[in-house]
Amino acid sequence: MTVCEAPGKVYLFGEHAVVYGEPAVPAAVERRATVRVEPREDDHVRVEAEDLTLDGFTVEYAGGTGDRPDVDVPTPLVEAAMGYVDAAVEQARDAADAPDAGFDITVESDIPLGAGLGSSAAVVVAGIDAATRALGARLDRRELAERAYRAEFEVQDGQASRADTFCSTMGGAVRVEGDDCEPIDAPNLPFVVGFDGGAGDTGELVAGVRALREEHGFAADTVESIGDLVREGEALLADADPEKPPSSELLAGLGELMDFNHGLLAALGVSARSLDAMVWAARDAGAHGAKLTGAGGGGCIVALDASDATETALSFTQGCEEAFRAELATEGVRVVEA
Ligand code: MEV
Repeated sequence: MTVCEAPGKVYLFGEHAVVYGEPAVPAAVERRATVRVEPREDDHVRVEAEDLTLDGFTVEYAGGTGDRPDVDVPTPLVEAAMGYVDAAVEQARDAADAPDAGFDITVESDIPLGAGLGSSAAVVVAGIDAATRALGARLDRRELAERAYRAEFEVQDGQASRADTFCSTMGGAVRVEGDDCEPIDAPNLPFVVGFDGGAGDTGELVAGVRALREEHGFAADTVESIGDLVREGEALLADADPEKPPSSELLAGLGELMDFNHGLLAALGVSARSLDAMVWAARDAGAHGAKLTGAGGGGCIVALDASDATETALSFTQGCEEAFRAELATEGVRVVEA
């Protein structure tokens, strides 16, 4: 049995704009997807998924990834989870030069699905790492991130940046601009997450922004403005001492940019009533700043607040199902059992 786990992430800044070559700064957080892999004698793949914040399910299908299992669970759930696991299996088979390898796979995750916390990237990263290791091969982190990106890109019909997969692989805060991905130093920021219990359709949301950007010059300018604020945010982080708790000036500066980023994302049509309500609840509670995180449409917001006020306010906000503090995950994907 080979077991790997990879963290989810929040976007400090830059989601959506990163798809068009602007920089983004996601940060890995301590919510993880765990993938257990046992090689099989045949070329079948059996997948058991638990705790994906939706009903668990078990399916078994023959090697060809075109096969779709006949199971009694909602199609979008099966499609979503199977698509990512399939793509991870294909990458591992290719990396280990074992095209007919079969596996028993169990996926567990405490990252809500499709909610902006990078659940699919974490499953893909942990899945490729565990399946490749189970076949006796090793990938360095850059190659793993590259393969995870290719897997997500394929499942999301070409609507994926490298941000989620790179961040989940490396851990900590990272900077992504087109193909250029680098870890960056950042202090341990006091992230608070609010989750509305829902999810957005990343492909649809990305397509919506793309259409707006093509139709209106001002929407294209909005995307560029997000890039500008990300560069300002990076400069603030670069001036900070990563070993020390963040200063109040740094939190105020980052928070202001987060608020701005949320406004621009809302202008691009990717916020939602529940996300706006949580953002305002966080601001009213005294958070330094708050914004949606990830593709939007529903799911999670992230706020900065070292006190308990934002978490408490969110837990009493109508439409917020869960509020929690999210620690920076300094370690990316890791092996739990070799
Ligand atoms: C989704 O987590 C983030 C988006 O920017 C899409 C991507 O970067 O692949 C909306």
